[in-house]
Formats: sequence, C-alpha cells, structure tokens
Amino acid sequence: MSGNTLGKSFRVTNYGESHGPAIGAVIDGCPPGLELTEQDIQFELDRRRPGTSRHVTQRREPDQVEILSGIYEGRTTGTPISLLIRNSDARSKDYGNLLDTFRPGHADYTYWKKFENRDPRGGGRSSARLTAPTVAAGAIAKKWLAEHFGVKIRGYMSQLGPIEIPFKSWGVVEQNPFYAPDLDVVPQLEAYMDELRKEGESIGARIEVVAEGVPAGWGEPIYDRLDADIAHAMMGLNAVKGVSIGAGFDSITQKGSEHGDALYPDGFKTNQAGGVLGGISSGQAITVSLAIKPTASIRTMRPSINRAGEAVDVQTLGRHDPCVGIRATPIAEALLAIVLMDHCLRHRSQCGV
Ligand SMILES: Cc1cc2nc3c(=O)[nH]c(=O)nc-3n(C[C@H](O)[C@H](O)[C@H](O)COP(=O)(O)O)c2cc1C
Repeated sequence: MSGNTLGKSFRVTNYGESHGPAIGAVIDGCPPGLELTEQDIQFELDRRRPGTSRHVTQRREPDQVEILSGIYEGRTTGTPISLLIRNSDARSKDYGNLLDTFRPGHADYTYWKKFENRDPRGGGRSSARLTAPTVAAGAIAKKWLAEHFGVKIRGYMSQLGPIEIPFKSWGVVEQNPFYAPDLDVVPQLEAYMDELRKEGESIGARIEVVAEGVPAGWGEPIYDRLDADIAHAMMGLNAVKGVSIGAGFDSITQKGSEHGDALYPDGFKTNQAGGVLGGISSGQAITVSLAIKPTASIRTMRPSINRAGEAVDVQTLGRHDPCVGIRATPIAEALLAIVLMDHCLRHRSQCGV
C-alpha cells in the first residue's frame, strides 16, 4: 500500500530517514543456503558511499552494514534478513529552512502536501540516502544470481550533461569516480564538474545497466512483464526521469527490418530488444538506460514558496551531489538485480525450473 516494498517473491522493504538514527532493509523470500557475510554486502555499499571524491557530496558516512537476522553459520536460513546501516554524519542545521520552504525540483512540496507531518532533515525519507539499503539488498540478489545462473550485472555512465562518453572497456569503469568506461574522457568530466561546482549549479546524466547471463523465460506478462517491472524499479530511483530498454526511444525512427532482432540457429546477432520480448527475457543481455535529472539542491537562488504560500527565494546550502548520476550506477545495478532475482523465483514457482 505505502510503496516501501519492492518485489513479490524476493521482497525488499526499505526503512529509515536521512537524519534518523539508522536506515535499512528487511528482505523476505531469500532462499536458504546462500553463503553471506557483511563483507559481501559492504563491497557494494562502498561503491555507492558518499564522500569518496570531490565530485560527490562530502557527507562522510561509513555506511557500515550490520546483518541482524536471517543468517546462521554464514548461510541464509530462508527467514527475513534484516540489514541495518547507522547514520553517523547527519548535520540537520545545514537544512534548517527545509521545514518551511520548498526546494524547486525536490520532494519537499509533495511530501508536505501528502503527509503534512514529515521529517524534513536532509530530505527525510525522500533523501537518496535511502538508496543505501537498496544497494545492500541488491548485493544479496547479485550474489545469488551469479552463483545460481552466472548472471553478471554491471553499469556505467554514458553521458554527463553535454559530454557523451563512448564505451571503450568494462575494465576501466571502476578505476574512476564517474564509472566512465573511457579513462581518456575523465579529465574533461573533472574540469566540467569543477566549473559546475564554482557556479553553484548541477547537471543530469545518463547511466547504462546491463545484465548478462539471464536465461530465457523470466517475466510475467501481461501486467508484470519483466521490462515493466524493471521500469517500475528504476523509476523508483531518486532523480530518474526516463527509463528505456534496448533501442528505447531510437525505436521511433527504426524500420522493422532494423529493429526486429533476427533469429539464427546459433542465436541472435543483434539486441535492439534489450533482452526482453513480450515481457519475457530472451536469453540476451538485458540493457537498460536511465535519464537522471540535475540535483535540485543548488546554491543558486531560486523562486519558491513557503508553507504559508508566500513567495520566497530559496538557496540550498549543506552538502550535495552536484551530479547525482555519478553515484547512481551501483544503485541501478542493485535494482536490476532485485527485479531479476524476484522474477527468477516467480518463474520457478509457476514453471518449476
Ligand atoms: C545517488 C543520489 C544522490 C542524490 N543526492 C542528492 C543531493 O545531494 N541533493 C539533492 O537535492 N538531491 C539528490 N538526489 C536526488 C533527490 O533524492 C531527488 O531528486 C528527490 O528525492 C526528488 O525525487 P525525484 O527527483 O525522483 O522526483 C540524489 C539522487 C541520487 C540517486
């Protein structure tokens, strides 16, 4: 009902607020027997963590995960796995005016309209801090999918504002703070971000996520198509304004002979479909592309209103990501992993394989 749970068979329920004592997730439906340690999860959390380069928010959070339940002698038991991440660097005074005024482009206005009584500190429940539990849950799904099917889920940034980033190699994606697949472009990205920060501005980005090794058959048409559930999950990620699968919006100008991936005895040779046909995985790589909007919290003064409906000018101080897309890659990977694991378990329960 209230939208804090993702999945039907592998269910991830997210809790907490940006400046509360802790955030976390409860995962129900994870099969027993998976070897799981806090280190398995920590690896993915460290990839999302704030404060790791000058191009992201300087909030210093260790994002140390604690597993509270669901594991016995190093393996999942099939009971709910409860994950806890303590908030340790919350500076609520930086956000003092958020209770009374609304940042243009942020969720302050709509949360107030819907709930009235909301926690405004650091964006409260609407903060992207709540993507940390998603990443933690996604780490479990990634591990299970890799061990059972050899599924590999990876992502990268393909565009930062006006700068398109050509795909050169997976090998370099983890070697730079942008998750760029081409190291030659990194100095240009750094210079662009340094200039943007000086201006007190922010910018959007495009992120690609790819899942390889997914067998054919996952997805539940007609209402729970695999592509529909991927889009649902990705649109649930803060700041995502567009999701496309495979050729996506390029399909508009393609002819049928170009778009329809021909079948050969040894498989497909193209992947315009992005690995999903009729809402069911085709056995090809699942390719997802995300449009991420520019950060709402900027130093530049903007017109807004206060709770009394009076005109005010808003400037957001505090620590923010000038391009939220920079930290989005591991989160998008986690969401794809959660959806795929959920659909794998759902496919098993209906078709038995
Ligand atoms: C990794 C990540 C970090 C983010 N950091 C910030 C931030 O520092 N400041 C901000 O205003 N928005 C940030 N956002 C985006 C907001 O959380 C988001 O725009 C806001 O909740 C409104 O939701 P919507 O953009 O989905 O409509 C971040 C998003 C992501 C994915």
